[in-house]
Amino acid sequence: MTYKIGVIGGDGIGPEVVDEGLKVLRVAAEKFGFDFETKDYPWGAEHYLATGEAHPDSVYSEYREMDALLLGAIGDPRIEVGMLERAIIAGIRFKMDLFVNLRPIKCPADDICPIKGKKASDIDMLVIRENTEGAYCQVGGIFKKDSPQEVAIAEMIYTRHGVERVVRYAFEAAKRRPRKHLTLVDKANAIRPQEIWTRVFAEVAREYPDVATDHAYVDAACMWMIKNPEAFDTVVTTNLFGDIITDLGAVLQGGMGVAASGNIHPGKTSMFEPIHGSAPKYKGQNKANPIATVAAVSMMLDHVGEARAAAAIDGAITELIASGRIPDLSSSSGLKTDEIGDLIAGALKEGLGA
Ligand code: IPM
Ligand code: MN
Repeated sequence: MTYKIGVIGGDGIGPEVVDEGLKVLRVAAEKFGFDFETKDYPWGAEHYLATGEAHPDSVYSEYREMDALLLGAIGDPRIEVGMLERAIIAGIRFKMDLFVNLRPIKCPADDICPIKGKKASDIDMLVIRENTEGAYCQVGGIFKKDSPQEVAIAEMIYTRHGVERVVRYAFEAAKRRPRKHLTLVDKANAIRPQEIWTRVFAEVAREYPDVATDHAYVDAACMWMIKNPEAFDTVVTTNLFGDIITDLGAVLQGGMGVAASGNIHPGKTSMFEPIHGSAPKYKGQNKANPIATVAAVSMMLDHVGEARAAAAIDGAITELIASGRIPDLSSSSGLKTDEIGDLIAGALKEGLGA
């Protein structure tokens, strides 16, 4: 089997962390007997500044022919805030209809757990963030800009189709996890139209009598994630709330340097990325933690059907952290980016954590 993988290194630390992800992928391919070819795409700030092109629509047909996309990070202080992120990251999510943003939050070792009185085993959640509508729909705008009458409107859109498919995906995911527990996170008390989530969730729940259900408003969910993280197993939520609670979740698993995500449409080309940004100040310094990207490579392998390789990568990462061989998960000190990549590649070769 030869997988075709589109690679968007992007801006800031993106290309460096992606290099390490591909290093580990090469070892996984050799060990588990598959091949892959990559195609690099230049999207990001340098390409935009040189050509005026952010992300051409013509590339989508090419992406669809691939098995997966791997993205590093997008964002550069020289460019208008969020423009490239919307064109490239949100562009791919929306145009390729990658309606699930899968974000596992699992603490790898007791020493990493930042909550007093809690241990690693208390933090094992799978957040399923809706990824194609909500507050990210780009419906709205600014009227009478820079005048005293200025009006800013940002809509949140929830469709029956959009909510139902992600809720169903979440029930399926919950059903496959040992605890079989799914929490809906919303703010349907204050944002009343979010009540569509309440109704759809209850309807779909009837088809899954073996999955226990729960509900939390997003503000309370943030509180419970710190106070009682063990209360959460699988979580399904809106696009914006999923964005917010997974940065909180990242800190519960060792920080932004380790948190990975998959932008998924089952059966279609999906895109995998670390959840962190481009961290421009660390660019080119070999300081960024590549674990999040390596973990995204693992999610990508799981998605394309190489579950054993995916589990072996996760096992190697956990073992290296638990044994203290990767002691510092922040990006500002400790091991270099390529040293962490080498350690994971080496551990995978040796079968560490298998
Ligand atoms: C994320 C990021 C993006 C988001 C930004 C870069 C648009 O924060 O993937 O979580 O808000 O979805
Ligand atoms: Mn985010």
